[in-house]
Amino acid sequence: MGNSLYSHDLISIKALSLPQIELILDTAARLKEDKLTHLLDGKLIAHCFFEASTRTRLSFESAALRLGAQNIGFSSDEHLSTKKGETLHDTIRVISEYADLIVIRHPQEGAARLAAEVSEKPVINAGDGANQHPTQALVDLFTIRECQGKLDGLHIALVGDLKYGRTIHSFAQACMLLNVRLYLVAPDGLALPESLCDSLKKCGVRFSSHSSLEEVVSKVDILYLTRIQQERFSAAEYELIKNHYILTPELLQRAKPHLKVLHPLPRINEIDIGEIGRAHV
Ligand code: CP
Repeated sequence: MGNSLYSHDLISIKALSLPQIELILDTAARLKEDKLTHLLDGKLIAHCFFEASTRTRLSFESAALRLGAQNIGFSSDEHLSTKKGETLHDTIRVISEYADLIVIRHPQEGAARLAAEVSEKPVINAGDGANQHPTQALVDLFTIRECQGKLDGLHIALVGDLKYGRTIHSFAQACMLLNVRLYLVAPDGLALPESLCDSLKKCGVRFSSHSSLEEVVSKVDILYLTRIQQERFSAAEYELIKNHYILTPELLQRAKPHLKVLHPLPRINEIDIGEIGRAHV
């Protein structure tokens, strides 16, 4: 296979160049069009989900099956030997002997990188704690390019839990390769981590911080909403902030006609599709 991504790990968007991202998006577009069903014939993919998932696990599994691969894996650590004290290191080392590729989701930051270091086979990070979710960022870029016809020149609002939202972290890293204008909308204490803000500055990405949706809704082409990451808070803390941003039909009346609303899901109360209708979502 003659491309620079063949057999490589995907742990963070930071490791990708813009041409590599474009290659992934173009390949996805071709797959969507051509339905190439035999690309992964004879391959075995291990889907190792130590943390809950609906979309990421099932989209990886269904994509693998549609492309001719076979799947092994688990959707929680409940029945794993980690319960007997086995380390992640040993678990991954063994699984990498069975499979041709490992897809891993884990609650701990850095778990996917550790897996890549010990695995004999390539590893894809399907979300590691509050750190990164690079494949979600790629899906988001694909969707934006498809619905807006381009990636450059867009005004994009990132809304919600920017501190713990791993989809936001990966998406912000992707923006460092693009000519976009960002509006960062977060409640007090849940702003984008300083290290990411510093990197955005270094890369020349224009951005501003805001506390309300009202301030930005009329200015943007993409409204990227995210949930407050309930699992990172105590129950009392979560109660105070859980409904901080809700997109209402009244707010949407101020939006540009071509605005698209993205949400990586699961959504809690951030968007009421019943009220808003599907025009923008
Ligand atoms: N977007 C996303 O990661 O969804 P899941 O948690 O359901 O996989």
